Amino acid sequence: MHRDNLDADFIPWRKRRYRVAKLHEMLSKLAHRGDPGAYLCVIVIKNGTVMDLPYIKNYKNVWTAKNRVRNFVSGLLEASRGPTGLVLPDTAFLFSVRDTPHCGRKGDGCKVPVFAPIKRWDFSRNASDDYEVLLPQFANVYTGELVFYPWEKKADKALLRSTLKARMKWNSTRQWLVELGARPGNGALLDTGVIANEIKGFKPRLSKSVSIPDHARWRYIFHTDGITASSRLGKVLAINSVVLKEESHWIEYWYRSLIPNVHYVPFNKENVLQVVSELQRDPQRCQRIADAAQHFMYRHFSQRAKAMYTRAALTSYNALFDDMAAFMASFSWDALKAAPGGPSVRGLLDQMKAFLRDPKPKAPVQGQANQSTPQPQPQAQPSAEPKATQ
Ligand SMILES: *[C@@H]1O[C@H](CO)[C@@H](O)[C@H](O)[C@H]1NC(C)=O
Ligand SMILES: *[C@@H]1O[C@H](CO)[C@@H](O)[C@H](O)[C@H]1NC(C)=O
Ligand SMILES: *[C@@H]1O[C@H](CO)[C@@H](O)[C@H](O)[C@H]1NC(C)=O
Repeated sequence: MHRDNLDADFIPWRKRRYRVAKLHEMLSKLAHRGDPGAYLCVIVIKNGTVMDLPYIKNYKNVWTAKNRVRNFVSGLLEASRGPTGLVLPDTAFLFSVRDTPHCGRKGDGCKVPVFAPIKRWDFSRNASDDYEVLLPQFANVYTGELVFYPWEKKADKALLRSTLKARMKWNSTRQWLVELGARPGNGALLDTGVIANEIKGFKPRLSKSVSIPDHARWRYIFHTDGITASSRLGKVLAINSVVLKEESHWIEYWYRSLIPNVHYVPFNKENVLQVVSELQRDPQRCQRIADAAQHFMYRHFSQRAKAMYTRAALTSYNALFDDMAAFMASFSWDALKAAPGGPSVRGLLDQMKAFLRDPKPKAPVQGQANQSTPQPQPQAQPSAEPKATQ
């Protein structure tokens, strides 16, 4: 999991060293930009406390942003509670919870690694031009329960119950599946419907929604992108049916560990009918795939597994900095909370500034005093020439 996902995300970043000054520069540029939006925040972790500092006054009204950030913070706090709780590294980082990448092509504006829940991945190159490091979403809580329904009782059709959003492109895979399902002759293969439609000019008959556990009553379950990656994938893979996943470049952190035709069956708009009819002819293959998917979910998808992945990501991030540990040692929650207006990005930036003016630790560590002056890294962009490591 870490090698195929985390390490892969750090490839563009790890050939050079970073300093808190670069992080400060990146964060304060955003703060000066007027309105960087509700989807950007800074996460600070120290001594087991996790706090999100939004760039706007509050994201109360931006439901998706608020939900994602709050679930992330509470997921980490929950996992670090108690005697067997995880010990999270002290750190500060930019978190973009938008569906689409924050760092432009070539990493414009991203001077140090930035974290996000979703980005694009080019599976043919096993690489990406989106430089974000992906972190788990804690919103879909997987409790370790798998869903079973007897194979022989399941409907021998592929199920889709979806919502078509106004922002989705015309003739998206979802929309196309609904249209195909309504065509005469396809009823033996497809049971595809929308429960809500916002696409203008498309007039499907609306279907009743089906709860996630009830998806188990169909042998094949479609999974399509929403606007980008849909985190529902984690839920349907826990069911003992075959997941048919749309071929897509949108990923969450764990998708690169999924193996096509082992954990799910890939399809596209052109081949979908053929893919479903091939599955109908090979129930053993279907059950093998459903079983592998359930094993995968059970092993990797608990809140604790997600928190462990996050801990590993933040440990890798800190290791790229020469002075993150020194800054975090100087960081004070009390000072952050005491600032007028309460904890904020500004308050964090003030503490960074104070640290950068006087970065010397109060009690110098023996043996490190004579190190040559660390070179500032003027070109900390992912497109820059690789610098020597260490
Ligand atoms: C992709 O690259 C990663 C290293 O970042 C490697 O572990 C993985 O095996 C590669 N995957 C494929 C499908 O080549
Ligand atoms: C760290 O957290 C523990 C438990 O929450 C607390 O008892 C301790 O005082 C904290 N240490 C510092 C240096 O703030
Ligand atoms: C939608 O996509 C399908 C598959 O690519 C194509 O056959 C069909 O003509 C498209 N429909 C429209 C209205 O563009």
